[in-house]
Amino acid sequence: MYSNTADRGTITWQSPSNIALVKYWGKQGNQLPCNPSLSMTLNASYTTTSFSYVKRKSGREAALQFLFAGARNESFEKRITAYLNSLLIDYPFLAAYDLTIDSANTFPHSSGIASSAASFSALALCVVSLKQMIEGKQGESSFFREASQLARLGSGSACRSVYGGYSVWGSVDDVPGYSNEYAVPLISEIHPVFRSFYDTILIVSAEKKKVGSSTGHVLMEQHPFARQRFRQANVHTTELIGVLKAGDLDRYIEIVENEALTLHSLMMSSTPGFILMKKETVEIIEKIREFRKTENVPVAFTLDAGPNVHVLYPASHRKEVMKFIKDALEERCTEGHWIDDSLGTGPKQLKG
Ligand code: PMV
Repeated sequence: MYSNTADRGTITWQSPSNIALVKYWGKQGNQLPCNPSLSMTLNASYTTTSFSYVKRKSGREAALQFLFAGARNESFEKRITAYLNSLLIDYPFLAAYDLTIDSANTFPHSSGIASSAASFSALALCVVSLKQMIEGKQGESSFFREASQLARLGSGSACRSVYGGYSVWGSVDDVPGYSNEYAVPLISEIHPVFRSFYDTILIVSAEKKKVGSSTGHVLMEQHPFARQRFRQANVHTTELIGVLKAGDLDRYIEIVENEALTLHSLMMSSTPGFILMKKETVEIIEKIREFRKTENVPVAFTLDAGPNVHVLYPASHRKEVMKFIKDALEERCTEGHWIDDSLGTGPKQLKG
């Protein structure tokens, strides 16, 4: 065991995925959002990234090796190299090291869970930790803000993963304190009902998506409903912040489900349009709505850019919802697969 120095060492961060309740869909400039988004940080779905750095001998090109779950992965390596190269202007010290980055997820790679939020937030946290090692410690809030900003450059939604609880990314009309450059946490003022919350993720399909989110963001540039949508996301973000503080489950369900269906409506009405929901996605949505009505249980769904359904509910209704999932929804999941997740406390530094 040796401790890290500015010449060599290993920094390890564990960082979670997040699910947007108000969706980011449409970007501008350098990975800046066209509208604010609000997310819930997850607990069980996370990436662990070990970032080993060794000062390279002068005169030699810096080397980067990227391992995914211990094995060399060239396609990830390309994306990570491009990302780290894009940071060199602001983080020139990166060029002085040979890097070995070893990343692993708790969730299967093909499970349909967006891994980019977890992996880019973990990597950004490692880079900012290395900067601290070289330049000296910074305050905690400025550390996480910088990591959020860096994570955003890798994948927009990743900037929200550096905080536990709920995060907001993107400036909000008429509300100060939010930024397009980084996310900010909402955790301190949340009502108890929203502090212990579950997200059971039903895997309807684990296939690679036909249309990725980068393409979807670009399609918003010419979308006939874009202006109205960006305005709606502002209204929903402001309102949902109030709802999370007040503990208003009914309005939470309305906003969150509307956001999910709006996201997919935007996809369907783009040119070209595309459909990511499957037959089972729609069946599950209908089952959830029916169960909520007949059993009077506050359970909501949301969707990411894919067919899988996130089932959201407070801890006080855990038992009924789990029974309902096993009885009525599990059979619609691919190989009966679902992931039991919940509101998480945010990234953890394991080493460095
Ligand atoms: O972070 P990106 O560029 O993969 O985009 C994410 C978009 C959604 O997941 C659909 C919504 C969101 O806000 O996370």
